[in-house]
Amino acid sequence: MADKEQKYEELVAQAKALSEAENDEIALMANVAAIIHGSFHFWWTGFYRVVGEELVLGPFQGPLACTRIKFGRGVCGTASKERRSGVVPDVEKFPGHIACSSASRSEIVVPMFRNGEVFAVLDIDSEKLSTFDETDRVFLEKIVQQCF
Ligand code: SME
Repeated sequence: MADKEQKYEELVAQAKALSEAENDEIALMANVAAIIHGSFHFWWTGFYRVVGEELVLGPFQGPLACTRIKFGRGVCGTASKERRSGVVPDVEKFPGHIACSSASRSEIVVPMFRNGEVFAVLDIDSEKLSTFDETDRVFLEKIVQQCF
């Protein structure tokens, strides 16, 4: 099995254990961000929560980030509005990308659903181009679905 898939399989198991031990959403987001970030050493790994018409910064690992993103704006706002994951190989080519950090070059955003509504997104940024692919999308969706 590829190294990446192996790491994700371990993360899926860890995330399952974390979600069985804790049901507070914020606490769980904090630890899920920590295990993903610790395993892959991405540039930024974290959550935004839907609050009214905006996404508001939640638990994360990495440098300072934008605190509020309007629905429909940037990679995060677009994924929430369109209700599907966004894989962006080059953020500079994504119309309306919100540059919280100039070091970020590629990004993946996975919406999280509760009662059919998007209530949060998992956002991961890389300082390298084309970091994320279908493997990341499939496993990250699995991690958030089993945890939240
Ligand atoms: N680049 C994101 C904003 C969030 S940060 O990268 C942490 C976007 O366009 O939605």
